[in-house]
Amino acid sequence: MAKGSSFKTVGILGLGHVGLPTAVGFAELGWQVIGTDSDSAKVSLIAVGRCPFYEPDLEPLLRKNLAEGSLEVTADVGEAVRKSDILFVCVGTPQKPDGSPDLSQVESVIRTIAENLNGYKLIVEKSTVPVQTAQWIKRTILRYAGNDAKFDVASNPEFLREGTAVHDFFHPDRIVIGVESERAKKWLLELYKPLNAPIVVTDVNTSELIKHAANSFLALKISFINMISDLCEAVGADVTEVAKGIGLDPRIGPQFLQAGIGYGGYCLPKDLRAFIHIAEEHRVDFSLLKEVERINDARIDKFVRKVKQALWVLKDKTLAIWGLSFKPNTDDIREAPSLKVISRLLEEGTNLRLYDPAAMENVKQIFPEKPPKLLYCKSALEAAKNAHAILIVTDWEEFKNLDWNKVKEVIALPIIVDGRNCLDPKTVREAGFEYYGIGRV
Ligand code: UGA
Repeated sequence: MAKGSSFKTVGILGLGHVGLPTAVGFAELGWQVIGTDSDSAKVSLIAVGRCPFYEPDLEPLLRKNLAEGSLEVTADVGEAVRKSDILFVCVGTPQKPDGSPDLSQVESVIRTIAENLNGYKLIVEKSTVPVQTAQWIKRTILRYAGNDAKFDVASNPEFLREGTAVHDFFHPDRIVIGVESERAKKWLLELYKPLNAPIVVTDVNTSELIKHAANSFLALKISFINMISDLCEAVGADVTEVAKGIGLDPRIGPQFLQAGIGYGGYCLPKDLRAFIHIAEEHRVDFSLLKEVERINDARIDKFVRKVKQALWVLKDKTLAIWGLSFKPNTDDIREAPSLKVISRLLEEGTNLRLYDPAAMENVKQIFPEKPPKLLYCKSALEAAKNAHAILIVTDWEEFKNLDWNKVKEVIALPIIVDGRNCLDPKTVREAGFEYYGIGRV
């Protein structure tokens, strides 16, 4: 606890990809933090300093803060509530079949808060929730804890990216807080003061909406550049140069203009669908975002077509697939393009040799090893052995700096289909490979 602060303990409810980096980050900033999760096996793992998922730099910082006592974890959610002054709700908000978010975990944790209220609490939504969720949280607390309950509800959306969550926590480009009381505002400003970041203070509805708008805009940028990449292919232009040419305009910006196999992950696809759903509920026309999703869905087809263009007949061809996680530096495969690519290529009768630096164990749960149809390999080079082509599905750094002569020695046909435009075409062509990128010749 920082000396003279208005609150003592920060509780983090839910220790997943958002909650755990947040808990460790606040502890590292000097706050007293207690983390909890309804999954007791996960809590036991974290309690001994192990991170239940792969996130660079997180585990050493977790161990340090556990050892120093600034972070404690418990499987007793009620205990965490009773001990805390500020409560961050970081539980999952998975998607229902109609695209709307399933808020049952949020409701359940709010009821636990209500049952354990032992004084004023500041309840902060960090999970991505639809606009107006805070109103339901307030109503739920009052229903279960009575009209005398002392609390505020605030919104503080998360902008951390998987794979760089630790860096993002300590270097946020902005912090958004949506508040309804002076006390909530004061506490949150105090909590984030050590980060010295720009802070947008707004009302709660607006803050909730900012999160969905941000992720939807990122998805829109990606689908935009993917659409342009199709035209580039048709007319012989280079989408990477187009991205550079437009991205230097500060009104457009260079990031999220990497054309490829499309966006995946637990956030962009789900949040876009949730945002469309909210708009429909309020009868607002979000057809623009429906197109963003349609363009993204079509990327897999286009990629498989490209593989066919490179190889003609796919049946009985052996293909190396490099990269399975939805993006580099994570083992997360939720909505990863690789899963759809694997299914499609198995349907085509190909033999697949898969490699990923971190995500293979997760993919094995969905596609168990079945030689010779489906093999998991120890390295990119091993996956390339006797393959008729290499397909790059995730742009891990290690794929960019390989010794291409060695790859050529083991491969059956020197063909690369680069679904992420992560290789330099000139380098691999000089090494004797046929190279097919996305939207570039
Ligand atoms: C995203 C947002 O970037 C975070 O700000 C947000 O906090 C997070 O969702 C969340 O809501 O929790 P994340 O899902 O970790 O973060 O991944 P991104 O870096 O956004 O990448 C998403 C997908 O887009 C990946 O499959 C990536 O390969 C793809 N992508 C990204 C492209 O295809 N092209 C690009 O130019 C950039």
